Amino acid sequence: MALKLRKLSYALGAEVCDIDVSEPMSEAAFGEIYKAFLDHGILLFRNQDITREQHIEFSRHFGELDVHGSLPQDRHPKYPELLLVTNEPNSDGTPSNSRYTGRQWHSDMSFTPVPSLGSLLKSWVVPEVGGDTLFANCTMAYETLSEGMKKLIADLHGIQLSGTRKINHAPTGESRREQQKKLNPPIAQPVVRVHPETGRKALYLGEKVKRFDGMTEEESQPLIKYLNTHAIKPEFLYRHQWCKNDIVVWDNRCTMHQALGDFDETQRRHMERTTVLGTPSGYAVTGG
Ligand code: SIN
Repeated sequence: MALKLRKLSYALGAEVCDIDVSEPMSEAAFGEIYKAFLDHGILLFRNQDITREQHIEFSRHFGELDVHGSLPQDRHPKYPELLLVTNEPNSDGTPSNSRYTGRQWHSDMSFTPVPSLGSLLKSWVVPEVGGDTLFANCTMAYETLSEGMKKLIADLHGIQLSGTRKINHAPTGESRREQQKKLNPPIAQPVVRVHPETGRKALYLGEKVKRFDGMTEEESQPLIKYLNTHAIKPEFLYRHQWCKNDIVVWDNRCTMHQALGDFDETQRRHMERTTVLGTPSGYAVTGG
């Protein structure tokens, strides 16, 4: 099978055209998809009118799936492999816990000792306009730093925090932030991460990092701000405008992303994500 690819932006991303991901797939055929995934950081599959089971099955080609024990409130009630990202209210009318998921720059599961290899997000309901997702190529961001900056950050570790998202109270009355912090204590991750498959270095920060290990927040912030601002220069980005039944898969080891609140929130946006387990990285630290 020769894959038909269409580049999505200068920095990253390719659309895989004319494919139905629910069809049986040989190892060789998936091998081509996986190579494109490593080459482009993000793949887009349009018009995938598939079931939840098929979404999960296709995702399993990429590796073992997370059952989202670190985000239990956001799991699909029937399928723990699916994480909900939705503003559809709960059955009792209360607001959805996941309505603000991903509204800051991050790589999935960076706040756990086994950050994700990749994620596959499927759009079920999309607003009339907006609800876009931005992606950044963190390899490009790293490679365009000066040699001096690369030396400066070579051994730094950023403390990745859970529970940093904009949300008020969980059903228990305890704040979601407190619940998430208990469940996922802070993890220090290398600021420069070597991709285990391509061997290329990428910046690994995002907005869940408030300070470097061994430094105060005041000392860390100027450099964190500089690196995060550098990483999201327009030339390193792809902005995805969702259509219903898109599947976008991204490599969490060399990209980061942010869901935008650029839509009328009285309209529905319902997405479901599988998360592929990665390899252990980082170490536990005390104190955020
Ligand atoms: C996520 O961060 O996994 C969700 C992204 C999105 O909803 O666009």
